[in-house]
Parts: sequence; C-alpha cells; structure tokens
Amino acid sequence: MSVLDIYVLGAPILRHETVPVTEITPDLQRLIDDMFETMYAAKGIGLAAPQVGRSEQLSVIDVDENPFVVINPDIVLTEGKQKGEEGCLSIPDIYGDVERAMRVIVRAQDRTGKSFEVDANDLLARCLQHEIDHLHGRLFIDYLSLVKRRAALAKWEKARQKDGDRSHIRKLTPQEAAGSHRRDEEL
Ligand code: NI
Repeated sequence: MSVLDIYVLGAPILRHETVPVTEITPDLQRLIDDMFETMYAAKGIGLAAPQVGRSEQLSVIDVDENPFVVINPDIVLTEGKQKGEEGCLSIPDIYGDVERAMRVIVRAQDRTGKSFEVDANDLLARCLQHEIDHLHGRLFIDYLSLVKRRAALAKWEKARQKDGDRSHIRKLTPQEAAGSHRRDEEL
C-alpha cells in the first residue's frame, strides 16, 4: 500500500463530477487500500477519490474505528438538521460551521460490488454527506456565507503564499506517512 498525494483547493479535479464505478478491478482494490492508508496518514475520518486525483465514484470512511468504503453512493433519505464545524484534508487548517442533515440513509456498493445501506446519525452522517459532496465537485466551503467563505479563502491564500506552494498537491511528510493513526475530524 502507498500513501498518495492529496490534491488541495485550486486543483480542478476537486470540482469535477466523478464517474460511476462499473467494474470491481484489482486496480480499484489497490486504490481503496491506498486511500485508507492516505486517510490514516493524514489523520482524517473520510477521503474521496478526487482528493487523491482520481475520478472513480468512491469514498473511504472511518468514524469510530469502523472503516468502510462507499462505491457509487446515493443518499436515499435525509432527516433533521445538525450544525457543526467541518474541515477537509484538501483545505488544511480551514474550518467552518456547516449545516447538514442529522440522519442519512446511504445506499452504496461495497468493495466486492455488493449493495448495502448505511443508516447514519451525527458525525457519521456528516462525514457521509461531506464525502458524497466531494464525488459531485462540492466542498464544505460552498456552504459558508459569502463573508465567511471570503475570510476562509483569504486565510487559505495567505497560508499558501507563505509556503510558496502553487502545486495544488499536498505531500504528506515521511513522518506523517509513517505516523500514528490518531484521528481528528478532518474529512
Ligand atoms: Ni473533504
């Protein structure tokens, strides 16, 4: 398994629609394994294919030590509301309050291609909504008010200018790549 580069805000692929997966191939299995490895290295709880520069319609998720992949996921029910702070592995160090459904039921395929449903609340529901958004070119900052989005983007641009980084790729340091699996709540 390998830790993949993470594409960050400004990379066009983060705004592209993904392509439904039609065949479970060895390449797809390797992508799923590498995405888990990358998510853990970055201490995230979710990661979507466009974040590693891929266009397959899938995301990996691990909230509360329950790892699973959703292939071609669809939200079939939403209920209630929750508001809470979100971050994203593709927009490091930027956070904002986002309103999401409190509960979702998601229909997806697992890594063998079998259909399943997950009925999720709270953080898992938030994570699923965030990761499914990624598969349709949406980012959490899209939900912020204009004023808050401008402030977040200004902070982002300033940090990037300081780093002199125009590549839109975030390479995890070897320490991060080899690091512990401590989590925070970046998606
Ligand atoms: Ni994200």
